[in-house]
Amino acid sequence: SPSPAVTPPTKLKYISLGVLVLQNTSLVLTMRYSRTLKEDGPRYLASSAVVSAEMLKIVACIFLIFRDHTFSWRALNHVLREEIVNKPKETLKLAIPSGIYTFQNNLLYVALSNLDAATYQVTYQLKILTTALFSMSMLGKRLGIYQWLSLLVLMAGIALVQWPAEAPGTPEQTEASSSSQLVGVLAVLAACCSSGFAGVYFEKILKETTQSVWVRNIQLGLSGLIFGLVVMFVHDGEAVRESSMFRGYNRLTWTVVLLQAFGGLVIATVIKYADNILKSFAAPFSIILSCIISYLWLADFDPTSLFFLGTVLVIAATVLYGYGERAKAAGSPQSV
Ligand code: C5P
Repeated sequence: SPSPAVTPPTKLKYISLGVLVLQNTSLVLTMRYSRTLKEDGPRYLASSAVVSAEMLKIVACIFLIFRDHTFSWRALNHVLREEIVNKPKETLKLAIPSGIYTFQNNLLYVALSNLDAATYQVTYQLKILTTALFSMSMLGKRLGIYQWLSLLVLMAGIALVQWPAEAPGTPEQTEASSSSQLVGVLAVLAACCSSGFAGVYFEKILKETTQSVWVRNIQLGLSGLIFGLVVMFVHDGEAVRESSMFRGYNRLTWTVVLLQAFGGLVIATVIKYADNILKSFAAPFSIILSCIISYLWLADFDPTSLFFLGTVLVIAATVLYGYGERAKAAGSPQSV
C-alpha cells in the first residue's frame, strides 16, 4: 500500500538518478542508431514512436496504481474515476507541459537525425541553465555564487564542444553537413527551453498538490497522447493512411519506445523525490558514457581535443553546481 515515507528517501533519490543515467544513455544511443541504420524498406515514423511511448507510459502508470492498491480492481477503478475521469480540470492543467513535451520529444528526433550522439548530449546540457532560470522564476529557488559560476563554466564548455572541427570532404559535402548540423543544434536549443519550462511546471504541480505522481503522469500522458496523435497525423498522415502507424517498426524501434516510456516514469520519480535541477546532474555522466560507447562501437564520432576540453568543463561545472548547493545549504555565500 502507498505508505507515506517517514524518513526522506535519500537512497531512492540517488537510485532513481543512477537509473536515469543508464536510461538516458541507452535511449540516446539506440535512438541515434535506429535513425541512421541502413535498412531495406521504409524507416519507422518518429512521430509514431512518440505516440507509442505515450501509450505505454499510461498503461504502466495504471499498472503502478493497481500495484499500490494491492491489486484491487475496485480500488483501481475508484482512483481512476475519482482522480481522472471526475477531474477534467486537473487533466487540463497538465495539458500545458504535456503539449510542450510532445513538441520536445519530436524535436529530439530531428536533433538526433542531424547530430552525432555525443554532440547532441553535450549541447543539450544547456537545459541546466534553462531549468535553473525557470526554477527561480516559477518556484522561487535561489542560486548561490558558485552555482552562477558553474553556469558560466557550463556555457564555455558547450561552446568548445560545438567549435567547428576542420571538416574533411568536398565543399558540397561540408555545406550539406554543416547545414544539417545547424538544424540539429537549433532543434536542441528549442528543446532546452521546453525541457526547462515543462519540467519545472510539472514539479510545481506535483509539489503543490496531493495527487500521486502516477495519477499526475496519467493526466500528463493523456493529453500527451492527443498532442502526439495530432503531430503524427499532421506530419506523417499520408504514410500512416497508406500503411499503418507501425510502418517500419522492428525490434530496435520497440526498444527505443520502451526506453522512452521507462524514462518518463524515472523522470517523474526523480522530480518527486529530488527536483529538476538535481535531475540535470544525471546528464553529464550520461555524456561520458555515450562518448565512450559512441567512439568505441558506433564510430560516428571523431572527438577533437576541444571536444575533450569542453566535456571536462561541462563535467566540472556540474560538480561545482553540486558544491554550491551544499555550500548554500550550510549557509555560506549570499544567494541572488
Ligand atoms: O530532457 P528532459 O529531461 O526534459 O526530458 C523529459 C522527458 O521525460 C520527456 O520525454 C517527457 O515526455 C518525459 N516526461 C514524462 N513524464 C514526466 C516528466 C517528463 O514522460 N512526468
